[in-house]
Amino acid sequence: MYNKGMLKDNCLTGKNFIITGGGSGLGKSMSSYLLELGANVIIASRNEDKLSKTVNELTSLCKNNEISYSVCDVKKSEDINIVIEDAFKKYKNIDGLVNNAAGNFISPTERLSPNAFAAIIDIVLKGTCNFSLLYGKQCISRKQKGKILNIIATYSYTGSGYVVPSAAAKGGVLSLTRSLAAEWAKYRIYSNAIAPGPFPTKGAWDRLFPKPISMFFDMEKRLPLKRYGNHQELANLSAFLLSDFSDYINGEVITIDGGEWISKAGQFNMLNKVPEKLWSLISKATRKKK
Ligand code: HXC
Ligand code: NAP
Repeated sequence: MYNKGMLKDNCLTGKNFIITGGGSGLGKSMSSYLLELGANVIIASRNEDKLSKTVNELTSLCKNNEISYSVCDVKKSEDINIVIEDAFKKYKNIDGLVNNAAGNFISPTERLSPNAFAAIIDIVLKGTCNFSLLYGKQCISRKQKGKILNIIATYSYTGSGYVVPSAAAKGGVLSLTRSLAAEWAKYRIYSNAIAPGPFPTKGAWDRLFPKPISMFFDMEKRLPLKRYGNHQELANLSAFLLSDFSDYINGEVITIDGGEWISKAGQFNMLNKVPEKLWSLISKATRKKK
């Protein structure tokens, strides 16, 4: 496994990015790497304590660049407006927006209240729509190139029980990604997505794999590569998609899951479990008899 940075030193110097949910988990890892590459980063989410701790910690990675935060609930378009306006005032140009903030929990769907469903849709789908809209308007009026990068999930393609609000919302974000790519290419606003497989974070693990669940399922053993994703692997991909190196990639979703979803989809992939010796017998049994 390669777990170091992959892009050229300082290749993002002079670039500015907004990352929602950048105070923890994958958002924090993506922010760290953008900073290491010389970019300025604004992280935005609800919890000011978390944001300010992350800013203090990641400032050590900065040379002539900086990290700052904006308190914002992505469910509120007025909060988003403030983040976007302040960011463009501060830097004149925002080269990319990462819609990474999310909310999720596991539950049988019939146990959910309408408010529980709405809580997830409002963060994941509406938050991403509104951030993309207000960011895009600024880029268009200023005639500036921009890159939108949405963090989705592989169940955006397949759907999934027990996380139905999130699956519905992430599916919507996938459609938003492709739709905006088609419409806004004329403004040089790119729209791409990353669909990560399992990358351990406290936020996701506390909510999706709490004790009673983690005692029954060993997620890591179920994966084709028998390992989780490493945060730097995702950070490398996100930095590439936000950089000028990816300027001919638009409307694309890149899965980074070690083959997880595809391995669960193919009907015969369970034959992995057949021991090598048995294949000779199977071969005899399945060949045309002379
Ligand atoms: C059922 C629940 C619930 C649960 C909350 N609700 N938790 N229902 N099961 N576990 C219901 C509440 O009862 C309420 O409905 C409604 O949801 C809103 O709850 P609040 O607590 O008021 O919402 P809010 O404060 O906005 O918090 C949002 C949250 C919370 C999503 C519920 O968990 C959160 O802040 N999450 C942010 C971080 C996060 O989730 N990270 C994981 C991302 S992982 P009522 O009717 O009672 O008012 C991810 C990875 C996917 O997306 C792929 C992995 C492989
Ligand atoms: P995480 O640490 O819980 O990240 C979620 C972030 O969203 C938090 O920093 C949280 O910050 C922010 N957030 C939540 N609600 C918000 C709101 N209403 N307004 C603003 N910010 C809000 O979990 P993660 O695992 O890193 O997830 C990051 C992204 O990766 C998510 O989009 C998730 O769906 C996706 N993903 C993760 C995995 C995985 O295995 N980890 C797999 C597939 C996809 P505040 O609490 O400060 O608001």
